[in-house]
Amino acid sequence: MKNEKIMWKITQGMYVLTTKNGGCIVDSVSQVSGGENPLIAVAVMKKNYTNELLKKDDKFAISVLGMDVDSEIIKTFGFNSARDINKFENMSISEVEGVNIINNSLGYMICEIVDSIENDTHTLFIGKLIEADMFQNGEAMSYGYYQEHKEELLKVKTEQGKTAWICTICGYIYYGEEVPEDYQCPGCGVGKELFKKKEN
Ligand SMILES: Cc1cc2nc3c(=O)[nH]c(=O)nc-3n(C[C@H](O)[C@H](O)[C@H](O)COP(=O)(O)O)c2cc1C
Repeated sequence: MKNEKIMWKITQGMYVLTTKNGGCIVDSVSQVSGGENPLIAVAVMKKNYTNELLKKDDKFAISVLGMDVDSEIIKTFGFNSARDINKFENMSISEVEGVNIINNSLGYMICEIVDSIENDTHTLFIGKLIEADMFQNGEAMSYGYYQEHKEELLKVKTEQGKTAWICTICGYIYYGEEVPEDYQCPGCGVGKELFKKKEN
């Protein structure tokens, strides 16, 4: 038995990982060392456009999302690909060290990429902290909290008269009578078994 929900209890946060030209929501961020030159690691799915961008860039930014996060930030950066939309278009952003950061956050860290490790699905990018600031001293949203409350947080509204299936991992909505057997969630890559039918 593999009940992956126990992983939601690992204290992870909610972040927007950005480069100059794109970015996505991530929870898999860790501070891997402290001291004078802290190292921050972030795991990015290979299928994400952000992964491609990071392989061309030398820096990334992590904006920390608070409990009062505007759900549009999660929807824009977490359920869309910068291959299809300009994620920065309707966002309040600033440029720091040549990287876009999210103003509506608790603060940011800018890291210079010093190493990366590949596995079959993800790249772990390791960055050295070069710049950071705090905008407000609010409480950071944990990934566990997001998972427990995502229906209210994202105010999942489905189109009337259509059967909707919600991804229990990221909140992506699939419309159709049945989720196809070989379906992979465009938001987070999981299969059909992790979709739940929305009761209207
Ligand atoms: C709550 C949440 C957590 C996520 N965590 C990660 C993560 O840690 N790593 C990752 O690569 N994608 C993660 N994603 C998925 C990406 O944000 C999503 O696939 C995004 O649409 C990719 O956009 P891109 O193609 O522009 O890079 C997460 C999404 C959500 C909603």
